[in-house]
Amino acid sequence: MKRESEMSAENKSRRFAVLAERDINKETFVEPWPEAGLIVADSPYDPRPSLRIEAGRVVEMDGKARADFDSLDLFIADHALDLSVAAEAMATPSLQIAHMLTDINVPQTAVRRLACGCTPAKLVEIIRHMNVLEMMIGLAKMRVRRTPANQAHVTNWKEHPALLAADAAEAALRGFAEVETTVRVARNAPFNALAVLVGTQTGRGGVLTQCAVEESLGLRLAMKGLTTYAETLSVYGTERAFVDGDDTPWSKAFLAAAYASRGVKVRFTSGTGSEALMGHAERCSMLYLEARCLLVTKGAGSQGVQNGSISCIALPESLPGGVRAVLAENLLASMIGLECASGNDALASHSTMRKSAKLMLQFIPGTDFICSGYSAVPKRDNLFGGGNFDAEDFDDWNVLQRDMQVDGGVLPATEEAVLAVRERAARAIQAVYAGLGLPPITDAEVAAAITAHSSDDMPDRDAVADLAAADRFLASDAGMLTVAEALRRAGFVDIAANILEMGRQRVAGDYLQPAAIFTSPAGAEGSRPLRVLSAINDPNDYAGPGTGYRLEGTRWEALQAIRQAQSPRHFVAPHVGPSSPRLVELGLARPSTRAEIIVAVGPAFNTALTRTIAGLEHEAVLAAILSGVADEGLTARIVKVYRSSDLAAIGYAGAELSGSGIAIGLQSRGTAVIHKRGLARLNNLELFPQSPSLTLETYRAIGRNAARYAKGVPPAPVGVKIDNWARLRLIVKTALLHRRETDEIADKPPQELWFDWEPD
Ligand code: 5AD
Ligand code: CA
Repeated sequence: MKRESEMSAENKSRRFAVLAERDINKETFVEPWPEAGLIVADSPYDPRPSLRIEAGRVVEMDGKARADFDSLDLFIADHALDLSVAAEAMATPSLQIAHMLTDINVPQTAVRRLACGCTPAKLVEIIRHMNVLEMMIGLAKMRVRRTPANQAHVTNWKEHPALLAADAAEAALRGFAEVETTVRVARNAPFNALAVLVGTQTGRGGVLTQCAVEESLGLRLAMKGLTTYAETLSVYGTERAFVDGDDTPWSKAFLAAAYASRGVKVRFTSGTGSEALMGHAERCSMLYLEARCLLVTKGAGSQGVQNGSISCIALPESLPGGVRAVLAENLLASMIGLECASGNDALASHSTMRKSAKLMLQFIPGTDFICSGYSAVPKRDNLFGGGNFDAEDFDDWNVLQRDMQVDGGVLPATEEAVLAVRERAARAIQAVYAGLGLPPITDAEVAAAITAHSSDDMPDRDAVADLAAADRFLASDAGMLTVAEALRRAGFVDIAANILEMGRQRVAGDYLQPAAIFTSPAGAEGSRPLRVLSAINDPNDYAGPGTGYRLEGTRWEALQAIRQAQSPRHFVAPHVGPSSPRLVELGLARPSTRAEIIVAVGPAFNTALTRTIAGLEHEAVLAAILSGVADEGLTARIVKVYRSSDLAAIGYAGAELSGSGIAIGLQSRGTAVIHKRGLARLNNLELFPQSPSLTLETYRAIGRNAARYAKGVPPAPVGVKIDNWARLRLIVKTALLHRRETDEIADKPPQELWFDWEPD
């Protein structure tokens, strides 16, 4: 076969030229290369599962003796595996555990019990038996929290506090359970955290927040009460990658304890591809290394993980089975009881089709957080590297939820509600800045933040003054209480109370339970005291149809109520109006032998309906047809068919009466046909199904052609504009207009109409 480059220009396919321009072909696709770690799920170098325990201690794991363990093996063997069940788990065939994952008669707890005794290689072996559909069923069952949720990213390139607060408030209003920010300039961290705290608690009390920064700074922000969760604790599946990250499993465990002991919810981060990206994959598959990460995460005592490749997503997606492997890692996390924020955060594809298809693997089964950060700001303002789904995709997301009756954790919102909450948040952060003596936020900045789409809509601030103030704020004693007090004094009592409540919850510590979020009743503001939803009081009890989380009741109503949904009753109104008095029913229509055309109209014509779907008056349409017939020197009779609203039947009935045997059938919505006596009902001379595209000029041409058929001079068919989107756009209207016409059906023979009309 010739290579493409050897083909001569004239041998180039136009089809392939078009394909080459498609978004999907902006991606990189490579063949697997296990030696470089470029293989997603089954490297020939991946170890076989094994486990030997002697005197309560693991002496061999996945083919390696304890003496040869690296630090991850050691940590996993000593801290992650449940040795009380390990022997049983390892002795259970992997295929059997895969079956248990998909079997609705096996409860989550039974699978989890065994999974917690599995080594990394064993976990991967189980997954190898499963296709994506089976994994999705497994995920629906194994997800920790019964109620799925979503997490948002709120950042902006200018790091403008009023815009951050407004966007955070909007994200909270839209239902995100967690909102995280990060920095462009590290020193801005305290102010970004502050703005997102004030913003979220304006939108809905109880939204958890994070500011992703270097860990000691992150801890200080948390201890000031400005943030409530930490998700920055990255782990890797090989020792070398860990060391390059300046860490060990023990240092991560220590850090996790530092956060948790201060009441901060902890979630580790891992995901396929990171080791290969760092050049330390050690010839292992991405999924095997991720299984190691997950066991390290569990061993370190983290309640959860954000995985699903996260920032590395494009790497597994360049390989065969990559998207499957990403689902597999989400499933593995859930199997061992970790709360899972399942990725879908970093830009994964140029192709909207590919992006959406991949999303479905988490969206349909539901995960604890569908996105590890849905970009609630435009892509270019997303300092996490540009979101996979952005503020511009809110409507798409809401429609997908409505289409599938799936809860993707995002509420629809009206423009008025969004503007109102953005205004309050921007005003609140302005008040906090004033109260704390920070560089003022002007009314103009507040105004810009309310209506802004992105940083581009915001004025610049004095960065030097802001950074100096941020340093002072960080060094001072000021924290959550100072902020709440400033809000209270400025009259933002409810926001102050929400922030205080977050502090109270921190003391209670309930949100440190696995998979904890605060309840977000549909559309409602958070109520105080807040109620935690976690694995303890909201365990996922999915066991097949009719069980587990179901999107129903008020929540389903809220997710249906997208702002674009209109009452279908309004669709017919523009097509009803005063009937033309120039069109009068005379009585029973009789067959004739004259050289004539019959125009047979539907039962609602010029009575129940008076305009076509394109908005043309029935009288004008008739006049155009009659003019066309007259152009050819013939005349037409008009009859109204009562017994059917079906176009074929109307045209057929007309042809039966027509002296020439030729009839034009015309539905009230404007759809037309030229029929000839003797043809089968569903056969015809010309059909014009696209009524929205039909103009008066077309109707005149239809009249002309009908007359030519009658004269025995067969014409070229009337050309009509093809609009493939018309059906899509107008299908509701079409259905309702047809229903109206059908309502007018009566058991009487065709009636002749008199049209008081003069040819032009
Ligand atoms: N593995 C480990 N850490 C990751 N991060 C992103 N993707 C991965 C991954 N696949 C880290 C980033 C940042 C945080 C958001 O998560 O480096 O610290
Ligand atoms: Ca995240």
